[in-house]
Amino acid sequence: MEQDLLREATEEAEAAEDSRALYEVKMKFLGRAGKVTALLKSMKEIAAEARPAFGKKVNALREALEEKFAALEEKLKKKELEKKLAGEEVDVTMPGRRHVAGALHPVTRVKDQLIDLFAGMGFEVFEGPEIESEYYNFTALNTPADHPARDMQDTFYLTGEFLLRTQTSAGQIRVMEQKKPPIKILSPGRVFRSDDDATHSPMFHQMEGLVVDKGITLCDLQGMLDEFAKKMFSETSKTRLRPSYFPFTEPSVEVDVSCAACGGKGCSLCKGTGWIEVLGAGMVNRRVLENCGVDPDVYSGFAFGMGIERIAMLKYGLGNIKLLTENDTRFLEQFKD
Ligand code: DAH
Repeated sequence: MEQDLLREATEEAEAAEDSRALYEVKMKFLGRAGKVTALLKSMKEIAAEARPAFGKKVNALREALEEKFAALEEKLKKKELEKKLAGEEVDVTMPGRRHVAGALHPVTRVKDQLIDLFAGMGFEVFEGPEIESEYYNFTALNTPADHPARDMQDTFYLTGEFLLRTQTSAGQIRVMEQKKPPIKILSPGRVFRSDDDATHSPMFHQMEGLVVDKGITLCDLQGMLDEFAKKMFSETSKTRLRPSYFPFTEPSVEVDVSCAACGGKGCSLCKGTGWIEVLGAGMVNRRVLENCGVDPDVYSGFAFGMGIERIAMLKYGLGNIKLLTENDTRFLEQFKD
């Protein structure tokens, strides 16, 4: 009987392939409900005189099995450890894995630089919605429905009333409705126009600025623009204002910056003129102030708006605006710090 059990247990234990299987065999024989344990428990059914001899035999069996299991366990554990270590071996001669870090998109870089630059002059950032009503995008900006200036911007209409904003200038109205002067805000964002060629894209970014307070003049605008040109382009950059027209400013100006590529002497980038047009600006039209409940006899202000892609193209010498939306990594990789 014990010999049979010893053989059976030994065979099964030796067949166990890993320590987990071995443990199960051990439980089957030596566990609380195990076969050897059952044998020990059956002792009380044995005649008293035969009990000591029986007990001795069963205990010897248990000890023999315990020893056997311990030896096998040690062997299996050692084997498993060796296997684990072999799997974790490090080949120090292997070439390292390259980590390719991304970079900020040139439009994001220019946007961040502009925000930094103007935040340094005390401007706060306000972001308006991309879907605008006709009122904010045009009417409140002194551009009523029959106004020819609406044709200057080919608009994507969503419904009769709502459209994809064509200019961040819409944000000027939202700010002036919410806030009393003094106002000094910067409004970056995406704008949309049905327009598509080497220098125009149906979606692009603008940066709008608005300053409203008592006694603001065109000189304040010009002083600020000089500072902007020096920081954005070059220390020796100059600006000039040319008369222009926008419905929401009076007077309106177009702002040129001296060409950084030739220093103003004239080159292919500036088409021989020495100047490059970078933004539109002007004194906020009295009507716009009135539309927002700001008294134009007490307050005055200036506004400006620029295309971020355009600034990026000038700064980095890009010939085609599409480079900025194609997401060709060979192009984008050049803008890593
Ligand atoms: N919104 C104009 C445009 O999209 C740019 C502009 C011109 C903005 C003059 C202004 C401004 O704030 O004063 O062409």
